[in-house]
Amino acid sequence: MEDIEISKIDQELEINALRRVIGAYLDYSAAAVEDAQRWERSYSKLSPSHKAILPHLPKKYLQLRRCISKNAFFILNMLQVQGVEQILSSLIAYEPPFDMGYDGSWNNINSHDFETEQHEIENNDETLSRNLDSSNHSEAIDRPEYACSHAVANYPTESERMCWHEQDSNGHFLPSEAISNSVVTPSESQAIHGSSEDLQSGVESFQVGGHLDSLFRRVIHSNVPLADVDKVRCIVRNIVRDWAEEGKVERDQCYKPILEELQLAFPSRNGERPPTCLVPGAGLARLACEISRLGFMTQGNEFSYYMLICSSFILNHTQAPMEWAIHPWIHSNCNSRSDEDQLRPVRFPDLHPGSAGITDGFSMCAGDFVEVYSHPSQTEAWDAIVTCFFLDTAHNIAEYIEILSRVLKPGGVWINFGPLLYHFADAHSYSPEDEMSIELSLEDVKKIALHYGLKLKKEKIVETTYTANMLSMMQNRYFAAFWTMVKEK
Ligand SMILES: C[S@@+](CC[C@H](N)C(=O)[O-])C[C@H]1O[C@@H](n2cnc3c(N)ncnc32)[C@H](O)[C@@H]1O
Repeated sequence: MEDIEISKIDQELEINALRRVIGAYLDYSAAAVEDAQRWERSYSKLSPSHKAILPHLPKKYLQLRRCISKNAFFILNMLQVQGVEQILSSLIAYEPPFDMGYDGSWNNINSHDFETEQHEIENNDETLSRNLDSSNHSEAIDRPEYACSHAVANYPTESERMCWHEQDSNGHFLPSEAISNSVVTPSESQAIHGSSEDLQSGVESFQVGGHLDSLFRRVIHSNVPLADVDKVRCIVRNIVRDWAEEGKVERDQCYKPILEELQLAFPSRNGERPPTCLVPGAGLARLACEISRLGFMTQGNEFSYYMLICSSFILNHTQAPMEWAIHPWIHSNCNSRSDEDQLRPVRFPDLHPGSAGITDGFSMCAGDFVEVYSHPSQTEAWDAIVTCFFLDTAHNIAEYIEILSRVLKPGGVWINFGPLLYHFADAHSYSPEDEMSIELSLEDVKKIALHYGLKLKKEKIVETTYTANMLSMMQNRYFAAFWTMVKEK
């Protein structure tokens, strides 16, 4: 009885967390348009003589709105292809829908602008309309979908946390609690056929299926917290880091040394039982994907719905390299050398996961690292663990290291890469909770590792960026700790 009560509460927490994340994705366009409007208003306040020096700016703002539309097009398709509209319908059936401050009026300025923009785009003669073919999406993917693991679930304590993803009967990658009330039909998913001219023309029309489109409109002008919309913008930047040609410089700084080290530690990987590798905090899963391509049986672990929705789309639903284009850098006018730099499209995925030679058994496990890998079934389960920009996400880094050591096989290898920018260090400034945050020096972190039987074999500091705009006039650089430790036998 008690269990049932608990699971109901947890189900509600999950549903609210997912609702909030989807709300943020859906609100992306309105929030970005609001920025554009603000910039336009500032321009309109210029004196005629100043306007005369900058006559190109109104055109820039129009282009910017087109870029927003293209980003929104990607987001909506990402949500739709994964059956999010069905999830949303079930959420709405479950209890009153989004508390998004919808006031019943679609004539507010944002929705009007969105429609005008769409209309303009649709009427452009050069536009090659993207047809959304709802009939054959599932047939179009002739490769295995990357499975999510199942394990004993603990329960989320934060809005962003979730427990498990499961595959539906069609192998789609969805949060288990959320799909428990919904049926996801692939026939409702839509394949996209675009052309390179389409993307190059800088304009495109799009149609997004009725239900999701109407949901999108319902959250326009909503009360989605700005911090949530910011997370969507971060995801857009993470797409560049993990899945675009432009992110290669960063990936070469962070992922390449890790991959080289893994190959050194496990020179033979072709046997019947390939070495297993766990990647906690996998983000958009490129590193896990690359490790899998090297012949490791790999599991990425991730707890953010923002990340999971996007990585699932890229892993399971992209159909060709460079199929998509987004404009990741439009959200700020600061530190651009030119408007062209700011508005430039970035194509992805540079690597098509479906034909990338991923090793069998690749999976993404959705859930909080501490909760998932504290389970006894995980003890001494992994030959290798790779953490990249992950350790400092801990409330208690000692707990992370204790678990990492426990789940590693004796003689197993832990490769870490990242700074110590403790994620909860500033929590007191935004969270009403008294969030625990253990913030240790690198020296103390290594002391804890040693305590748990992890012997340092190699260590260096590597300079790198994280989701940087390579063309920006401002660059944040990290001096990341990169080490290999081996668990004592
Ligand atoms: C800074 S990002 C790094 C992502 C990726 N490793 C990379 O290098 O691009 C940290 C990631 O860890 C995830 N994360 C944070 N705490 C987590 C936890 N307790 N369990 C699972 N994932 C977590 C975040 O959602 C985020 O995707």
